[in-house]
Amino acid sequence: MTEYTVEFVGTGERITVSDTETVLSRCIEEGIAQEFSCRVGMCLACSAKIIEGEVTQPAARGLTEDERDEYALTCMARPKSDLVLDRGKYPPSIDEESPATEESGSEAAAADD
Ligand code: FES
Repeated sequence: MTEYTVEFVGTGERITVSDTETVLSRCIEEGIAQEFSCRVGMCLACSAKIIEGEVTQPAARGLTEDERDEYALTCMARPKSDLVLDRGKYPPSIDEESPATEESGSEAAAADD
């Protein structure tokens, strides 16, 4: 097991994360206000931009292959080096991943009877 330092841009927060645990799990333990929701690499809520360093995150299904070097899903990301992360930064695909939510309004029209 190797331990790395993870520093967060703009907050001065710094934690130690081993290569066997996720950045998010350590944030929760340390009381750092890292957003999250699904915790399975799908929703992107826990995204952070990688300013320095490398992570391994093979289960980060919410990211495209191109985004995996630039963004970390902290619920899945384990450090491969010391890191500098900018929390709350989301990859461009977050806009493409939104499901279509248009409704026809037919239920509302039917309720007028
Ligand atoms: S909490 Fe949903 S992708 Fe990390």
